[in-house]
Amino acid sequence: MKFKRKDVLGLEELTAEEITLILDTAEPMKEIMSRDIKKVPTLRGRSVITLFYEPSTRTRSSFELAAKYLGADTSSIAIATSSVQKGESLRDTARTLEAMAADVIIIRHSAAGAPHLLARWVKARVINAGDGAHEHPTQALLDMFTIREKKGGFKGLKVAILGDITHSRVARSNIWGLTKMGAEVRVVGPATLIPPEIERLGVKAYYDWEEGLKDVDVINVLRIQLERQKKGLFPSIREYTKLYGLDQQKLQVAKPDVLVLHPGPVNRGIEISPDVQDGPHAVINEQVTNGVAVRMALLYLLMAGGEKDELSA
Ligand code: CP
Repeated sequence: MKFKRKDVLGLEELTAEEITLILDTAEPMKEIMSRDIKKVPTLRGRSVITLFYEPSTRTRSSFELAAKYLGADTSSIAIATSSVQKGESLRDTARTLEAMAADVIIIRHSAAGAPHLLARWVKARVINAGDGAHEHPTQALLDMFTIREKKGGFKGLKVAILGDITHSRVARSNIWGLTKMGAEVRVVGPATLIPPEIERLGVKAYYDWEEGLKDVDVINVLRIQLERQKKGLFPSIREYTKLYGLDQQKLQVAKPDVLVLHPGPVNRGIEISPDVQDGPHAVINEQVTNGVAVRMALLYLLMAGGEKDELSA
């Protein structure tokens, strides 16, 4: 199957077949990462620009490494020291990058829909690296790659997404992707952090952790965005940790071989206890490794269409 899209903006629009193609393509990419010389010439001569209007450690550096491992040239626009500070609009920044013949632009923006606008304005391929509370497709794809690698598939798998669902682009992309692949997805958290209409996306909402985590195969723990507490969406960090922080006691109600994911960055000891974060169920560092493989797969599929077979070079 050939990947025919110009851009990757969200999992809402990807089909189950396209998601499977991306995950399948990430497998040989992970093998490349395990080599002493982690470099193939597949995307030699292609240019990848990262344009991040919000902070990032994992997503930006893994896209840059992914591009370099495939032989592409990379450039990173740091917004704090860019002409955005002089008032340049997103549209004019887009025109500037287009004029430099960028092949792929990877954008993170606080405004939902910014990557979609950029994709309309430029001929370059655009990948959404997180837009507001809307979508973070590559995070969900790496989460799904990790789940598939550990559990063998998605059909019938019970996956709980725990925490602040309302403000989470990671939650929304995971819901779109996992439900398409046949998993049973539930969201677990305080009523103030779960949008009432969420069940329309085919998930079940639980406000009680014991019911929500019972017999699940996977728990994806979301970062608590600490600024939300100031808005009164939960009474105190301490109370949140007591009621919804994933600790050994809460882990006991899940399946014995439950997998614990977290997209990072982690508020250690708040949404997850240190012994669970560092314990045998957690795959947080493996998610980071898989993030590079999945992003290599996307760059390869977007630029080479999945037709070239130069990966063994
Ligand atoms: N998970 C994630 O998006 O992390 P960064 O903010 O570090 O990119």
